[in-house]
Amino acid sequence: MKKLLISFALAALSATAAQAADAARGKEIFMKVGCYQCHGTVGQGANTGPKLAPEPLALESFVAFVRNAAATQMPAFSANMVSDAEMADIHAYLSSIKPPPAFKDIPLLNNP
Ligand code: HEC
Repeated sequence: MKKLLISFALAALSATAAQAADAARGKEIFMKVGCYQCHGTVGQGANTGPKLAPEPLALESFVAFVRNAAATQMPAFSANMVSDAEMADIHAYLSSIKPPPAFKDIPLLNNP
């Protein structure tokens, strides 16, 4: 019974965490744990890691990738290193990044 109550409490906590995903906090974590070093400060990607923003993977796939990335060239980040709530914040940050303007809307690229 006690175990059941605890799991209800944990479920409630993680639901709250998911609702409270905060893009500003996500940016801080993205910088602090070093995601930016391979993916760029606004998730734009580089030759060290693919583009993550705008439009990152859906949250569930995003977290699953980061937790299990060790099979790829990316180091895995366990929940002890970056919690699920922190991952939701990082995801909120990457989701908040606006797409760049289309080439046709950048005057410098359209001068003959
Ligand atoms: C040491 C460099 C490095 C660091 C640090 C790093 N990544 Fe990556 N990441 C990669 C590389 C390389 C890939 C491509 C892996 C592959 O597909 O083989 C990748 C792939 C990903 C993907 C999958 C993207 C897609 O569209 O398939 C996600 C999501 C991701 N990283 C998120 C993160 C987050 C969040 C962090 C910080 C917690 C982080 N990464 C830190 C190098 C890094």
